[in-house]
Amino acid sequence: MISANDIRLKYLNFYKARNHAVIPSAPLVPENDPTVLYTTAGMHPLIPYLLGQPHPAGNRLVNVQKCVRTNDIDEVGDAFHHTFFEMLGHWSLGDYYKKEALAFTFELLTQVFEFDPQSLSVTCFAGDLDAPKDEESSSIWQSLGIPKDRIYFLPKEDNWWGPAGVTGPCGPDSEVFVDLTKKSCGPNCQPGCSCGRFCEVGNDVFMQYNKTSSGKYELLPKPNVDNGTGLERNLALINGFNDNYLTDLWQPAVKLLENITNREYSDNKREFRIVVDHLRAAIFIIADGVFPSNKERGYILRRLIRRAVLKLHLFVPDPLLPSLEVANVFIAQMSPVYPELNSQKDLIKKTLADEVGKFSKTLDRGLREFNKIKKLDGKAAFDLFQTFGFPWEITIEMAKQNKQTLNYQEFETEFKRHQQLSRTASVGMFKGGLQDQSEITTKYHTATHLLHKALRIVLGDHVQQKGSNITSERLRFDFSHSDKLTSLQTQKVEEIVNQKIIDNLTVSRAEQSKSQALSQGALAFFVEKYPDQVSVYTIGPEENWFSKELCGGPHVNSTGEIGGIKIIKEESAGAGIRRIYAQLTK
Ligand code: SER
Repeated sequence: MISANDIRLKYLNFYKARNHAVIPSAPLVPENDPTVLYTTAGMHPLIPYLLGQPHPAGNRLVNVQKCVRTNDIDEVGDAFHHTFFEMLGHWSLGDYYKKEALAFTFELLTQVFEFDPQSLSVTCFAGDLDAPKDEESSSIWQSLGIPKDRIYFLPKEDNWWGPAGVTGPCGPDSEVFVDLTKKSCGPNCQPGCSCGRFCEVGNDVFMQYNKTSSGKYELLPKPNVDNGTGLERNLALINGFNDNYLTDLWQPAVKLLENITNREYSDNKREFRIVVDHLRAAIFIIADGVFPSNKERGYILRRLIRRAVLKLHLFVPDPLLPSLEVANVFIAQMSPVYPELNSQKDLIKKTLADEVGKFSKTLDRGLREFNKIKKLDGKAAFDLFQTFGFPWEITIEMAKQNKQTLNYQEFETEFKRHQQLSRTASVGMFKGGLQDQSEITTKYHTATHLLHKALRIVLGDHVQQKGSNITSERLRFDFSHSDKLTSLQTQKVEEIVNQKIIDNLTVSRAEQSKSQALSQGALAFFVEKYPDQVSVYTIGPEENWFSKELCGGPHVNSTGEIGGIKIIKEESAGAGIRRIYAQLTK
């Protein structure tokens, strides 16, 4: 069997021999694109370079990139969809263009991956008001030996890629498909047909446009080539499998599940695939710093873990150990390629165990209630959610499993009615238990100022803020410092912050000139970012303040409101930069 590692190496070596520099995979959490939750393609971390900025490694690049596509969650369970996948990708940043790009693709697919040239069909962009028909690619394909009757011109929905988020580089593309069955399902059977005859094995995007926030396509200074292809799918096809899960990427985990559950994969394909796919995605996501939560990235993670647990629960009474065992298999198998899995292994296991444990309890209770329900309507589904914390998507999943239908509208009506009721009920209530999200983020914001100062006390005045990111679940703070913090240093920092919280210092805001504030010792993230007149937050009495920072706020009125913090992780965030994650303890 050809292994995933063989393919990674063959791909990288092919492009290395054609002067492409190998670059590492970027993290799954995009660093500069707030419009998407996860890195969805190899081009994603390269957006600034596709827009024209020079890349330090040159203008021909290649890599294997970790990706997560959340719109595929519900598709997982079939033979070739995944939430986490590895993308083999290479780029020409304003260097070679269509002719070389398509010739490379053809050579790789036919000589290295050894697909039969007779089984390949290609598609090209049909043209519209934004860009012309791509006759050029079609004639290049013909010169490479693909006959006209296997070249299809398709519209934007099929043959245009990007932008990855809302704005950014994009353009027409040309895709290559392997004909798996050579059997047409009807007169319109062509690449992209849902009958499953054609499988995409490569995509060259000719990134020559930048889509602006007003929806316009502007020409980029230099056209680029962005090529990407899924490792999992190619690996299966190269081995002659029509199921990705039969490859060495998945078999160890699948076999383990067979042992744990005493069932055969062949009889439980959908459930097994969901379990291994979702747990693999979850460990990679956790390794890149995401925690389960009820919002955005954390919610995707939570959904993946819950769905895996739900499926495991069909086979074993307690999913905790099986999920950890599956996670262990992936950590051991994939950390030679992605060492972060090994360095974050304790955090991964702890986070996974906590979430699985919590959800298993909800699940046990919810399932008992679910089984008591005589008529599964929107109200019953809402009650399960409201009273037992049983998530809506799990109710749908259960309904599917039991071949029942569920009306989402009914659930939504019930949900809205309830929201209305609780809004009315909360008028005049004490704030107490009704903490909203902005209150929590405000606490985190003030905690960040305390943390910044505490780090300077413990590590020295070279500590400067390099970045900050707050969610309702945690704060993340990046700062200049070259060495890993010792556990004693971390403990000291945490103690100082918590002491200042216990001291219940007042937090006050004043408008001042920037120069005056700076001369008093106020800290600023980017000095040049601020206007001449700035707002300054001071923690502690004016004559003996603890922290002073240029900042737009908002902040709590006194530090006691924060309750307490705990540093949950410290890691590198690049050369000379450390990153701290902390959570509120109350
Ligand atoms: N960005 C394109 C894709 O994701 C090619 O890399 O298919």
